[in-house]
Amino acid sequence: MNLAKFERYPLTFGPTPVEPLRRLSSHLGKDVAIWAKREDCNSGLAFGGNKLRKLEYIVPDAIASGADTLVSIGGVQSNHTRMVAATAAKLGMKCRLVQEAWVPHEDAVYDRVGNILLSRVMGADVQLVEEGFDIGIRASWEAAIADVKAQGGKPYAIPAGASVHEFGGLGYVGFAEEVRAQEAQLGFTFDYIIVCTVTGSTHAGMLVGFAADGRARKVIGIDASATPGQTRAQVLDIAQRTAALVELGQDLTADDVVLVEDYAYPCYGVPSDETKDAIRLCARLEGMITDPVYEGKSMQGLIDLVRKDSFPPGSKVLYAHLGGVPAINGYSYAFRNG
Ligand SMILES: Cc1ncc(COP(=O)(O)O)c(C=O)c1O
Repeated sequence: MNLAKFERYPLTFGPTPVEPLRRLSSHLGKDVAIWAKREDCNSGLAFGGNKLRKLEYIVPDAIASGADTLVSIGGVQSNHTRMVAATAAKLGMKCRLVQEAWVPHEDAVYDRVGNILLSRVMGADVQLVEEGFDIGIRASWEAAIADVKAQGGKPYAIPAGASVHEFGGLGYVGFAEEVRAQEAQLGFTFDYIIVCTVTGSTHAGMLVGFAADGRARKVIGIDASATPGQTRAQVLDIAQRTAALVELGQDLTADDVVLVEDYAYPCYGVPSDETKDAIRLCARLEGMITDPVYEGKSMQGLIDLVRKDSFPPGSKVLYAHLGGVPAINGYSYAFRNG
């Protein structure tokens, strides 16, 4: 496998910390040690998160293209668009963001706080669009790209979640290499890796990275899209294309994509009561904040899988905390009583 041949533009601090979640592990009362890899603390750029690992491999191409404007898309409270806005600011580029109405929301200030507030503060040109959830290529995004061109700009297009971009899967191949180095220092290896999956390139990159040591099927994706068929297909497609890019030397098949569909309800962006309980439990036992859209759902999945004895006794489970905390500001009604 050869990841080093790809140029990487550093946007993160370096390897992210790995820490034991001792109180959560002991609260659950099983012989399972839960650890977290803190991708949520990976950078000084606007609160960081998983998108920066992906963007590190996309930025060299954006610079080489001579672009002056990054153009991307997501929901109103997209973490990804916040990260693109921060990256554009850091590079001295302009930023055009399409924010679609992916989430039916309760808070009156949903489109004023959290991620979208930060993107506006960072100078992004934010456009709100009335389209529902879909991780595919969107007409609104293509129209924004055309509009930047029509106004004499030079756009560089970054799809939702930086996922279906040619280099979108590379960052999380690097994550696996980083975990292996940390395991060598810790003196043990993790038996399972838990990851929240929506647009797919985080999970896909991990699949490729962990396939290198036979752990592809130990990467357990927790679906938060509520459109798992599309997400599953996109993970496999990105994983196969990324495997070819880094010359993995083995075929990845549909069976390698482990995606648990049980926690995305009622729909993308809306937390169930059980998701909210998981967010509170983790916050109260560990002081670790997870969000109602992504990480709260994968935390719910982790807790439930431990409770259901899905992991053999003695297992060490690594929860990838991918960021996303600013979105919780759009859910003040859900947590009005704590
Ligand atoms: C905080 C957070 N967790 C998980 C995900 C899911 O990652 P991916 O879209 O690569 O599947 C995202 C982005 O979509 C995210 O912002």
